[in-house]
Amino acid sequence: MKNQIIRLLKEKQDYVSGQEICAQLGVSRTAVWKNVNALKSLGYEIDSVNNRGYKLISEPDALCEEAIAGYLETEWLGRELIYQEEIDSTNAKAKRIGEQEGKNGTVVVADCQTAGRGRRGKSWISPKGMNIYFSILLRPDLLANRASMITLVAAMALADAVKKEMQLQVQIKWPNDVIVNGKKISGILTESSTDMEYVNYVVVGIGVNCNQEQFEDEIKDVASSIILESGEKVNRNQLLATFLQSFEHYYSDFLKTEDLSVLIDEYNSMLVNCGRQVRIIEMDKERILKAIGIDKNGALIVENENGKKETIVSGEVSVRGVYGYV
Ligand code: BTN
Repeated sequence: MKNQIIRLLKEKQDYVSGQEICAQLGVSRTAVWKNVNALKSLGYEIDSVNNRGYKLISEPDALCEEAIAGYLETEWLGRELIYQEEIDSTNAKAKRIGEQEGKNGTVVVADCQTAGRGRRGKSWISPKGMNIYFSILLRPDLLANRASMITLVAAMALADAVKKEMQLQVQIKWPNDVIVNGKKISGILTESSTDMEYVNYVVVGIGVNCNQEQFEDEIKDVASSIILESGEKVNRNQLLATFLQSFEHYYSDFLKTEDLSVLIDEYNSMLVNCGRQVRIIEMDKERILKAIGIDKNGALIVENENGKKETIVSGEVSVRGVYGYV
């Protein structure tokens, strides 16, 4: 309910009467009063005036375990949450606890990383005080070759959460880059440990560029942040909690079939490449083909000028737009 109250107050940007909040949320006055007090203790500055109601003055800035927990509406995901102000890499930490007794659904969050890791051996620069860096430890009963699809599930959940919180147009560049206005605002690195042909554990690591206003020259044409694209400061605690709720939902759909059959249409509706010409870059070869969408295994279906279709598997190739990143 805290999430809903905040959304309502942000929308109105003025005093909202207790009565109106009760009516909109279908709850009692006491429930509103209790939740407003809880929000104040999470660092929200909310003015309460007799006969006028409540007005949001400011939101808390720091990433904080209690604030994340305060927003959390999940059943199991993130109920075990490890927060560290500084860490080497949340993926490395989640893997360390994965090797021990770490529970399914544990989330490791940090305000900054000193050895953040990206895909293809690159590093993920992780300055403090502005972004979210976190990893989820999962222990699904899953064949090892299905684990990479969880990355696409995470991209959907992130796109969904950013849309909900910031009212931005969010898309996915196959397989898992979350895009706003043609620029990447997030990176996902999934790493798994397998035992014979089954998954032992999976770590899904996500970096979200939230309130970062400057990027290095080498990446500034392709990378951006939510604040740069929306003009609004992100409440990182709330966005993370909303993401965890979306992920729990999409992930349970994924586990029903152990592939993306239930999610395929929604994924394709978010896919920036859909119906567009893309450059498929394999080793030293480059081809231009039309992207159609994904199949139930998360591979990209492409079509040549004669209408002949083939599927592209992630990890083997890199996909770019014809004129730029998307
Ligand atoms: C990419 O290259 O696009 C993936 C970047 C993934 C970065 C995140 S930040 C949280 C987690 N911890 C890491 O060391 N990496 C991932």
